[in-house]
Amino acid sequence: MMQKVFSLLTVMLLGVLLSPFVNAAEGVQSLRGGVEIADDSVPPKLDKWRHDDEPIARDYVQQPPLIPHRVDRYVINKKFNKCLTCHSWSNYKASGATKVGQSHFLEHDGSESANVAGRRYFCLQCHVPQMQVDPIVGNDFKPIKLLDR
Ligand code: HEC
Ligand code: HEC
Repeated sequence: MMQKVFSLLTVMLLGVLLSPFVNAAEGVQSLRGGVEIADDSVPPKLDKWRHDDEPIARDYVQQPPLIPHRVDRYVINKKFNKCLTCHSWSNYKASGATKVGQSHFLEHDGSESANVAGRRYFCLQCHVPQMQVDPIVGNDFKPIKLLDR
């Protein structure tokens, strides 16, 4: 009986000790504003597209180049890939776009496809378009100087 009372007291004491941490979640101000953790926030409207521009300098050798144009109406689905109407090896000359890299034809097993490999088909997995907005969090990242290769 005595033991039961003790363990009950321990549990209650733990509860009291931990309660500030539980309550701390309420009213936290984060990048989502004062929205409660369990609630959905309204995403900010991003509509200031970077307009068609020159290629953006890369910060490191393996970087997928950033996209210097808007892409909001470009469809990519099983049958059609709008990006390839300009960036494929058959269309790049007429459109004035860079052709997709040679690496985009390599399959997972090392074989080379005639068409863009499945794992490179969904371009926006790696290439990201840009908006004209001030960064929410400052960043003073500086790339190392690229060696000429
Ligand atoms: C109407 C033609 C057109 C379409 C469609 C298009 N692009 Fe482009 N893209 C261009 C042109 C022109 C440039 C600027 C010249 C260049 O660097 O290729 C460019 C640049 C780029 C670059 C920068 C290349 C570099 O070397 O820095 C990337 C990455 C890119 N586009 C990806 C995409 C993706 C992903 C899509 C589909 C969501 C897409 N593009 C659709 C014409 C197009
Ligand atoms: C898995 C990531 C990934 C996907 C998916 C992908 N790319 Fe890339 N892309 C890269 C990387 C990394 C580079 C830079 C190195 C290289 O050329 O392989 C690159 C380079 C490029 C370049 C510049 C090539 C050059 O010679 O400078 C273009 C243009 C491009 N990609 C377009 C596309 C398009 C269009 C698609 C969709 C059909 C696509 N990429 C899908 C990762 C990706």
